[in-house]
Amino acid sequence: MKSFLVVLSASLVACLPAGDAVVPREPRPVLGLANITLAEFDDDAGGLQGRALQGPHMNANFPDPTLIWGDGSWKAYSTSSDGKYIPVAVSDDAQTWSMTNVDALPDPGSWVHPTDRGIWAPDVNKNDNGLYVMYYSARRDGGSRCIGAATSWAAMGPFVPQAQPLYCDDAAGGVIDPAGYDDGVNRWIMWKDDGNSLGGATTCQGGQPSGDYKPTPIKIQRMARDALTLLDSPKVIMDHEGRNNNGVVEGPSIYKVRDDLFVLFYSAHCYSSDDYDIEYAWSDRIDGYYGDRGILLRTVDNRGIYGPGHMDIDPNGSFIVFHGRTGPNQGGGGTRYMYSAQLTIDGKRITF
Ligand SMILES: *[C@@H]1O[C@H](CO)[C@@H](O)[C@H](O)[C@H]1NC(C)=O
Ligand SMILES: *[C@@H]1O[C@H](CO)[C@@H](O)[C@H](O)[C@H]1NC(C)=O
Repeated sequence: MKSFLVVLSASLVACLPAGDAVVPREPRPVLGLANITLAEFDDDAGGLQGRALQGPHMNANFPDPTLIWGDGSWKAYSTSSDGKYIPVAVSDDAQTWSMTNVDALPDPGSWVHPTDRGIWAPDVNKNDNGLYVMYYSARRDGGSRCIGAATSWAAMGPFVPQAQPLYCDDAAGGVIDPAGYDDGVNRWIMWKDDGNSLGGATTCQGGQPSGDYKPTPIKIQRMARDALTLLDSPKVIMDHEGRNNNGVVEGPSIYKVRDDLFVLFYSAHCYSSDDYDIEYAWSDRIDGYYGDRGILLRTVDNRGIYGPGHMDIDPNGSFIVFHGRTGPNQGGGGTRYMYSAQLTIDGKRITF
């Protein structure tokens, strides 16, 4: 059988005109951003207690934003900020936002470390029963960062945490940046193994680099339609390329362009550096390895956005949110503002 196949493929190649042996791949779509808008939160919702502010609120730290359409308006959530575990902003058009006084996750869960309670990078999905499921990353008491899940029938919360974390991996350095995706058939969760938290050659933590870059793979795992039950096992879909990206890739978010074409958005470099950016890569399967990397947005694009990153795309693919600083060289302590934008594919906006 084997020799028959060899003969067959040899004769097929022989039939092709010289130079045509490699089938040219269809060109990738061209991705772009339109209507990039800095979210200047207004004060309508009375969320900014204790601050005498007139007009737009210009100083809202809203790192690692995520957005979803739910209960009649857009909702955006961020990493712990402004005295809340999970702040929420609302919008009718995904461009003009109001900060609310709501903490969507007033109780992060009994498994979370009692004092180190910064909750990072939430992601909210709606499951088939209409239940909102929030993934987030928090330090486990006695361990590294894990992914937690919390549920609410209302998009504003309060989200109620599950008794145990959804997923942990101490050996990998912890797991952060969870993101859910429904490809229409299966639900998935992605995250980043937080390898650079173990040190190694990256300088994101400001320490002395030593040895090799630790792997920071982005992984994906299939979930049941409840968006709460893990199925199968995790697969690596991307990793950093060493010094090229300071040994870090993180902040994944996937979008299905066609049934046979998926794009993975992610950030590379240290979040505290102006090199932090929004990149993308392609795969013909949602859980395949993503390649042909490109850059969607970075500081040197001269849009006045420094270290843009941690992009999330709405499930319909039209709007995105990400964070960025408004001045150079501010480091990890600089305010990370939320920006929104519209994704374009081959120059066209996405419509439904
Ligand atoms: C997203 O798409 C779904 C159906 O594909 C639709 O029901 C929903 O209204 C859309 N949401 C927004 C915000 O466009
Ligand atoms: C940019 O915003 C304008 C005004 O809302 C809208 O008409 C236009 O379609 C948007 N562009 C894209 C590419 O979505």
